[in-house]
Amino acid sequence: MPRPWSAHAVYGTTARVLHWTMAVLILFQATIGIVMTWAPEGSTLAKLSTALSLYDVHKLLGVALLALVLVRLANRIGQGVPAEDPSIATWQAETANLVHTWMYLLLIVVPLLGWLGVSLFPALTAFGITLPALVAPDQKMSEPVFLAHAVAAFVLIGLVVIHVGAALFHAVIRQDGVFRRMWPRDEEA
Ligand code: HEM
Ligand code: HEM
Repeated sequence: MPRPWSAHAVYGTTARVLHWTMAVLILFQATIGIVMTWAPEGSTLAKLSTALSLYDVHKLLGVALLALVLVRLANRIGQGVPAEDPSIATWQAETANLVHTWMYLLLIVVPLLGWLGVSLFPALTAFGITLPALVAPDQKMSEPVFLAHAVAAFVLIGLVVIHVGAALFHAVIRQDGVFRRMWPRDEEA
C-alpha cells in the first residue's frame, strides 16, 4: 500500500481512535462468530448464543466494521501516516507494510463475504433490521461463500496474532518508538 507521509511522528487522533475501537470490536466479532457456529447443539454455550441473539449481533457488528474500515482508509488517504522509523530494518518495515495491507483488504473482504452469504441463504434480518440483499437468494451457493468467509476470517485472525506479536516485541523487548506511534504519551500526540 502506498504510504502518503504525514508531517507527524505519531498516528493522528482519528486514526488511533479507529484503530483501538476496531481492535476491540474485531476481537468481539471473531469470538461471537466462533461461539455461534461451533457451540455444540444443546450446550450451555449454544443456549447463551440463542439468548443473546449472537447471529444478529454478528451481522450488524460486521456491517458496522465494514463501514468503519472504509472511514479509516479515507482518513488514512487524507491524513497520511507517520514517516517510517529509520531504526527499523527494511525487511521488517516491508513485512509490517504487507501485513497492514492484507489486514485492510481482509477487513473489507471478510464482512462482504458474510453479507453475500446471508444474501444467498437468505438471512438478512437482524433485530428487526433487514440488510439490503447483495444478490438474489441461492441457498446452495451460500455454503461455499460461508466457507470462504470462515477461511478469510481465520487468515485475518492469524495476521492479527502476528501483528500483535510484533507490536509487543517493539513495546516490551526492543522498547523503540513503534508502539508509541499508535499509543503516544500526551506530549507526543
Ligand atoms: C470483520 C467482520 C467479520 C469477522 C471478523 C467475521 C468472523 C466470523 C467468524 C470467525 C465466523 C465463524 C466461522 C466458522 O468457523 O464457521 C463467522 C461466521 C459467520 N459470519 Fe462472520 N465475520 C464478519 C462479518 C460478518 C458479516 C458482515 C456478516 C453478515 C452480514 C457475517 C455473517 C456470518 C454468518 C451468517 C456466519 C455463520 C456461517 C455458518 O454458519 O457457516 N459475518 N464470521
Ligand atoms: C483486531 C486487531 C487489530 C487490527 C485489525 C490492527 C490493524 C492495524 C493496521 C491495519 C495498522 C496499520 C495502520 C496504518 O498504517 O494505516 C496497525 C498499526 C499498529 N497497530 Fe494494530 N491492529 C490490531 C490490534 C493491535 C494491538 C492489540 C496492538 C498492540 C498490542 C496493535 C498495535 C499497533 C501499532 C503499534 C501500530 C503502528 C505500527 C507502525 O507504526 O507501523 N494493534 N494496526
